[in-house]
Amino acid sequence: MRLVITDSYEQMGLEAANIVAGQIYLKPGSVLGLATGSTPVSMYERLVAVHRTVGLDFSEVTTFNLDEYIGMSPENPQSYHYFMQENFFRHINIKPENVFLPDGMAEDMIAEGQRYEKLIADKGGVDLQVLGIGQNAHIGFNEPDVKFAATTHKVELDEETIQANSRFFRDASEVPRYAISMGIKTIMMAEHVILLANGKNKAKAVYQAVCGDVTPEAPASILQLHRDVAVIVDKEAAELLPSSIHGVYISRKG
Ligand code: PGA
Repeated sequence: MRLVITDSYEQMGLEAANIVAGQIYLKPGSVLGLATGSTPVSMYERLVAVHRTVGLDFSEVTTFNLDEYIGMSPENPQSYHYFMQENFFRHINIKPENVFLPDGMAEDMIAEGQRYEKLIADKGGVDLQVLGIGQNAHIGFNEPDVKFAATTHKVELDEETIQANSRFFRDASEVPRYAISMGIKTIMMAEHVILLANGKNKAKAVYQAVCGDVTPEAPASILQLHRDVAVIVDKEAAELLPSSIHGVYISRKG
């Protein structure tokens, strides 16, 4: 695990965008795993800027998003399909047929999970997976549990997640109770992983991910077992990490 601590949220996005852009320069037909939420917005903004200014080319790139709310159509402004179009896809030259998200409107979520896993496998697997982290240390919508769920599956959202995501809705009662999410195995199969976090409210989860016991009760902790993870966090999200770690990892100022 490599740790990059940045001075600001914008710098965190810049570091992440550099890695994503580097991946695409090295392999123009990369398969990216993508995340929604507030955290990756500055990364998307930066990637759009690199596309516009120096022509970073997404024409051969394929993307798979981590998750989607169940019962939300792609046209719904609260859906993750919509989020991705607004924040990223409509600003770059990615081909619509190369963009994939789980279908939150599917009738049979077991079949949908299997379909999604097969699509990922058929595209050769994810080269670089971008992750945010929940305050409860979830990745994707893999909530704390007594076991790690393996592949793309239906999840019941934790009350903490519903409360955290209620800021995007009029109130918590409007937040969907269920989602479909890549599983832990799906995420761990990615060749490279970057985990992003900013803000004090993520400090405990970041500590659990980087220094805590590896346990399904803190799903992000499994990343300690992945062979290539970069954790990119602003200094507020890093504030519970012991200073001994700061010394051996990279710290960047923006
Ligand atoms: P956030 O969500 O980026 O909106 O904080 C992250 C997550 O829940 O994984």
